[in-house]
Amino acid sequence: MTATTTKALTVQEAIETRRSIRKFVQEPMDQNDLREILELAGLAPSAWNAQTWRFAVVQTPEVKAKLQEAAYGQPQIGNAPAVIVVYSDMEDTLANVEETAHPGMGDAGRTGQRTTFDNAFGAQPVAQRGAWGLTQANIAFGFLMLAARGKGYDTVPMLGFQPDKVRELLGLPEHVQFAGLLPIGKRAEEGFPHHRHNIDRVTKFY
Ligand SMILES: Cc1cc2nc3c(=O)[nH]c(=O)nc-3n(C[C@H](O)[C@H](O)[C@H](O)COP(=O)(O)O)c2cc1C
Repeated sequence: MTATTTKALTVQEAIETRRSIRKFVQEPMDQNDLREILELAGLAPSAWNAQTWRFAVVQTPEVKAKLQEAAYGQPQIGNAPAVIVVYSDMEDTLANVEETAHPGMGDAGRTGQRTTFDNAFGAQPVAQRGAWGLTQANIAFGFLMLAARGKGYDTVPMLGFQPDKVRELLGLPEHVQFAGLLPIGKRAEEGFPHHRHNIDRVTKFY
């Protein structure tokens, strides 16, 4: 499977050929592909359909350079045509929770969604409910990597950065929590072959 593949990969092919790529072909991201990849990631499931994830797409060289600085200089950020910052904003989710009620459920659905979230999270400290929000955003982060690969792109997930610096750079509120940074583009290296536990090492069958 080469970097120039345009045919969509099967899920199995996307999983098997995804590996962390840190050197990218030096060309801008196709903006339609970028949007489609984000839309696919947004189809991830979440508890009560909360959709706590938010995306910040960095493509301008100046902002990328600052993002790289916040990530201890890791060069894959500057090398990628785009970096998708995936974070969760549980406070935005809670403030606008009616948006996430299925329209088919009408007013009752919206009221129910409000009650559910107020009951579950209203009394929790911001950091605690923020941690819950992050568990949901992590699901979208995984979908994002596979959606990208499925459309012939490559990525490297990253948590090696200073969250406060990234919040400041992107003007994000203090309560948001990061699933990770995701440099994305077409691969210009092959990356490392998978090295994983044998399934029997990590699985119990009952
Ligand atoms: C949450 C997360 C954080 C990571 N952070 C970094 C990082 O900051 N820098 C980096 O070069 N790789 C990072 N990686 C990539 C891992 O090293 C890589 O996924 C792992 O070694 C398995 O290799 P593979 O992705 O090629 O299968 C991260 C991976 C994950 C899932």
